[in-house]
Amino acid sequence: MSDFQLTRTLDDDAAEKALRADVLHGLTQTPKSLPPKWFYDARGSDLFEEITRLPEYYPTRAEREILLERAQEIAAASRARTLVELGSGSSAKTRHLIEAMPALDTYIPVDVSESALAGAAGVLLASHPGLRVHALLADFTQPLHLPESPEPRLVVFLGGTIGNLVPAERATFLAAVRAMLSPGDALLMGTDLVKEESVLVAAYDDAQGVTAEFNKNVLAVIDRELDADFHTADFDHVAVWNREQEWMEMRLRARSELTVKIRALDLVVAFAAGEEILTEISAKFRQEGVRKELAAAGLELTQWWTDAAGRFALSLSVADGEVRTGSLGG
Ligand code: AVJ
Repeated sequence: MSDFQLTRTLDDDAAEKALRADVLHGLTQTPKSLPPKWFYDARGSDLFEEITRLPEYYPTRAEREILLERAQEIAAASRARTLVELGSGSSAKTRHLIEAMPALDTYIPVDVSESALAGAAGVLLASHPGLRVHALLADFTQPLHLPESPEPRLVVFLGGTIGNLVPAERATFLAAVRAMLSPGDALLMGTDLVKEESVLVAAYDDAQGVTAEFNKNVLAVIDRELDADFHTADFDHVAVWNREQEWMEMRLRARSELTVKIRALDLVVAFAAGEEILTEISAKFRQEGVRKELAAAGLELTQWWTDAAGRFALSLSVADGEVRTGSLGG
């Protein structure tokens, strides 16, 4: 018997409205910028999947290595009965974790893609007939209300996606995650680590040009959704290591002076030759920084695991306050 429920917290035109607001805001300020979440239409999601298989893009493989190695430890430390996954996508990596969690009752994948949620739930339910799956169609950067489910809870946020947020946004996000948890509940989070510049730049500017295509896809999304006339060939893909901020930046650089019409916004955007749009930051971390950011949100770092090559880390942190005492607490 399958036990699947889906709750929509996004109405049909919420995404369209958000895209309009983000494009209007981002392309009328200096320097120009666009939020990275708009990369991920069907084509962008496929391109990202392709990125995860590139020889230069190590984070996905490194994180999978850690998860495979540590799934039992994570399961034992969290004793989770509910697993919440923010930005679950295909739930591919989470499967290892679910398999290691015999006490698991409920899996709550949270994603903005309804097709990804339904697909992932189908696969999981087929192999775990006793599992309850309550999918949430939601934007995890917005405050979330979780359905009732048994405690303790483990929230997982994988892939290093926290790196897409600037420090102030990370503080807000981590505080919101802490607000979903009771004392003793845990957060498992993936963070890419600071390393040699050449390795980082190659990961975001691969030889086959897949990341360049992924970056330019945001222009195709705007063309389609907002009736604009960006030509991807007018822009170069740029990947830069920002050494002061310790984050990678992806930008799109206009090859010449040009203007773009965005009809749905009644807007004409002018570009100088060489002018750039910042399309993504991907912050790289150090253990002490992660520990401090978690602590500021009321989460205590209890475990830190890296892959053998030390490129990527998974951290386990626990919501502070009084830890539940289980059955003794009545
Ligand atoms: C999915 C946000 C973790 O920042 O590395 C991959 C996205 N951008 N290549 C990352 C991405 C360029 C990725 N995250």
